[in-house]
Amino acid sequence: MYDMKDIVVNFFEERFGTFMEGAVCFAPGRVNLIGEHIDYNGGHVFPCALSMGTYAAARKRNDRKLMFCSANYPELGIVEGSLDELGYDPEEGWTVYPKGVMHELIRRGYEIPCGLEMMFYGNLPQGAGLSSSASIEVLTGTFLNELFGFGLSPEEIASIGQAAENDYVGVKCGIMDQFASAMGRKDHAILLNTSSMEHSYVPIAMEGYKIVIIDSNVPHKLSDSQYNERRSECARGLEMLRQASDIKAICDLDSVEFEKYKGVIDDPVVLRRVRHAVYENERTLDAAALLSAGDITGFGRLMNESHISLRDDYEVTGPELDVLAEEAWKIKGCIGSRMTGAGFGGSTVSIVAEDALDDFEDEVGAAYRRRTGLMADFYMADIGDGARVL
Ligand code: GLA
Repeated sequence: MYDMKDIVVNFFEERFGTFMEGAVCFAPGRVNLIGEHIDYNGGHVFPCALSMGTYAAARKRNDRKLMFCSANYPELGIVEGSLDELGYDPEEGWTVYPKGVMHELIRRGYEIPCGLEMMFYGNLPQGAGLSSSASIEVLTGTFLNELFGFGLSPEEIASIGQAAENDYVGVKCGIMDQFASAMGRKDHAILLNTSSMEHSYVPIAMEGYKIVIIDSNVPHKLSDSQYNERRSECARGLEMLRQASDIKAICDLDSVEFEKYKGVIDDPVVLRRVRHAVYENERTLDAAALLSAGDITGFGRLMNESHISLRDDYEVTGPELDVLAEEAWKIKGCIGSRMTGAGFGGSTVSIVAEDALDDFEDEVGAAYRRRTGLMADFYMADIGDGARVL
């Protein structure tokens, strides 16, 4: 079997010469099983790290130059920068992610004493909403930590990645993606309380079933203003709710309390956003309990409800993801299907009986083509460990 470490080192050597005294690291992408758009509302999320993600080989230089290269974009060649010029440039491509992490580390008082040569290589489908950018952030934190001995924990690396995304790149994402990438565990989902950061691992014991990811091939652009718009709608909702109840985050309310206090929200759009957050948080807790108890069918039912709430109340699914979910629901043997990640394009996640996998791919793929004119890509999700030095 080919070894990804050798592959990324080879890519490095083609561009930069002999690889010595460097670090080779990996950070995965993620798929969220349930708990969508509530990691910035103090809710619970339930993601898993994938075995696919981003690899890097990095080596120190004697000067302060930064040399970025991605084997996924060979046409870009080496993108040069400097530790002394880490200002944000909106015209810049993917290097905003590693640069944002460096910028954040320095802001937190860590010294990056010298420049670097860095080769990146990712095997996540691009723009599929499987957190390739979070994987690059966590990866950068991981190799800098290794090369410069910062002593950062995986949780700190996740938080640095989120801060880079929020303050440098300007996407006001929650902590879920970076946390899953840094803290994932093979064959487990992480139940994370984003308000306290308490978390536990739930085994993905799905005898006879597989987790299938379908990439809609509608490019999902997280930086689209819609994501930040949802965040500000929720912030307005929280402000209104505070007139009725002394809460810190929307998901501090359970559905009974929400139904009691919802009258203070005088904007119908905001009301729908808040309703999604409150019920999605409850669904996530219920879903994790059902999975722990081996009730996969119950789990699947909640996935479907999650999609409907994201479609009708949160309005982040879009026509293509709705077609994928609807067609998946029709297949006997598919016990749950929903959009995953930020939405507005990207992917769905489904739980499908092993003996129905072929029909699932044929029928959902054909219906999607017929109804949207687009081709979908199917991936069997393999749940892996979090970021690591190879
Ligand atoms: C994106 C963000 C996450 C989370 C999801 C929606 O993936 O990066 O923080 O908000 O969308 O659940």
